[in-house]
Amino acid sequence: MTNKATQLSESHHPRPQWRSRMGFIFAALGSAVGLGNIWRFSYLCYKNGGGAFLIPYGIALLVVGVPLMILELGLGHKMRGSTPMCFAKVDRHWEWAGWWSVNCAMFGIMVYYAVIIAWCLSYVFFSFNLSWGMDPNNFFFNEYLQVSAAPGLIGDVRTPIVSSLLGVWTLCWVIVFFGVQKGIEKANKIFMPLLFVLILILVFWSVSLKGASVGIKQYLTPDFSLLSKPQIWIDAFSQIFFTLSLGFGIMMTYASYLPRKVNIVKDALTISVGNCLFSFISGFAVFGVLGYMATTTGKPVSEVVKESIGLAFVTYPQAISLMPGFAKIFGVLFFSTLVIAGLSSAISLIEAFTSAIIDKFHYSRRVIVTAVCVTGFFGSMLFATNAGIYWIDIVDHFITHYGLVTIGILQCILVGWVLKSQKLREHINHSAQWTLSKLWDFCIRFLTPSALAILLINDIVKESAKPYGDYSWIAVILIGRDWLLVALVVSLFIAARSWRTDLQIEKKPQEEKV
Ligand code: PFF
Repeated sequence: MTNKATQLSESHHPRPQWRSRMGFIFAALGSAVGLGNIWRFSYLCYKNGGGAFLIPYGIALLVVGVPLMILELGLGHKMRGSTPMCFAKVDRHWEWAGWWSVNCAMFGIMVYYAVIIAWCLSYVFFSFNLSWGMDPNNFFFNEYLQVSAAPGLIGDVRTPIVSSLLGVWTLCWVIVFFGVQKGIEKANKIFMPLLFVLILILVFWSVSLKGASVGIKQYLTPDFSLLSKPQIWIDAFSQIFFTLSLGFGIMMTYASYLPRKVNIVKDALTISVGNCLFSFISGFAVFGVLGYMATTTGKPVSEVVKESIGLAFVTYPQAISLMPGFAKIFGVLFFSTLVIAGLSSAISLIEAFTSAIIDKFHYSRRVIVTAVCVTGFFGSMLFATNAGIYWIDIVDHFITHYGLVTIGILQCILVGWVLKSQKLREHINHSAQWTLSKLWDFCIRFLTPSALAILLINDIVKESAKPYGDYSWIAVILIGRDWLLVALVVSLFIAARSWRTDLQIEKKPQEEKV
């Protein structure tokens, strides 16, 4: 470690700490289990050959998911800092990459993620009187979103979305404002058990519907012929990254609040496997309902299934309207589940950025969280306009396919080659009963970055020939690529400023003052 790095590791700021291991596991699971688990996973499974998708998904979990989860938890725990601080402690020249991670999390993902949670919140209320009527497609796109013809036609900010958005940002603000123990840990201790209960109710309800088995059969029947197509592998690897909240340094930040004695490997496995199991179980709720809908309307499942956003906001409302009995309650439960899953992920995105600013500039949490949430709210407005859905689609694609994967590769180089993975492995093994073998070093130095590089190159080659999603080149370049570039320039700028860290003594961790 360099001199500067030694100084940084001896920050005088007492670091907050989780009250219990359970509190940490709930918070990390809360970050991982999000909107993506419920409908994105199910849709990808359906699109990529049903049960056959579980094979590349499982391989992606082993090759990329678990090794990187261990890396993020291990580095955060060893360096006891937010992502930029961890990177700077390894090598001051790498600090910018840490800022790039948290800037992408906050201004790349959070700003649009909040808008999707806001849609879900609106739909909780719409469920009370099935406001979408007979044509949920028309209701969602033409009445609620009032979608314009192209990404450049921004139009106006949609008032019904903004009111829900205000609710979402306010809730996030309150939770993160109260800090690690009193805010994030407490909220997740309520959110996570509630989420598990809700998803179980939805699963049992869905599988008991008439024709549910037709949908579930589609979900699970493997079509192995699709395994030879590169797309199934690309989808599996990017989903693993997104679903485990890897790459944005969230897990690193959360692990920096752990006590000295921990079991990193066990925790990494619990979080990764728990998250993927949640996705798998949610698939039964989604496909049970699709099967019911197909049976009731006399159409094949392939005709009722829609792509991710359409699945939640068009197909599901359609199915709810067809349900006998307590359809409205089913709607309220389904959309509330999405809101809770989304909120627990959203607070982790805000915390990763907030923690980084606190570490570097020593501003008070209260001031930073307020400033971040107000800025974030106004940033989100762009995605609540008539062209918002296009912007969400493009930014999400670029951040997850290029930003996340690039940062994942950078993390592997930093830990594998600059710090030397062996050092981190020794740290992890020193503090736990479950130990890591040299296989992990091999993954971090060679296997994981190579898999990610193949993914990245594949995307670049494919999309240099034809712009993503049939948008115009201008839209893709200005909204997608430049979003990442602006975040990078801002990161370089912040990284160039000096750290306001002066004292040499590391104090005993305690809950921070808010
Ligand atoms: N893991 C969350 C989901 O699957 O919806 C989303 C997410 C949260 C992605 C945090 C990335 C992230 F850093």
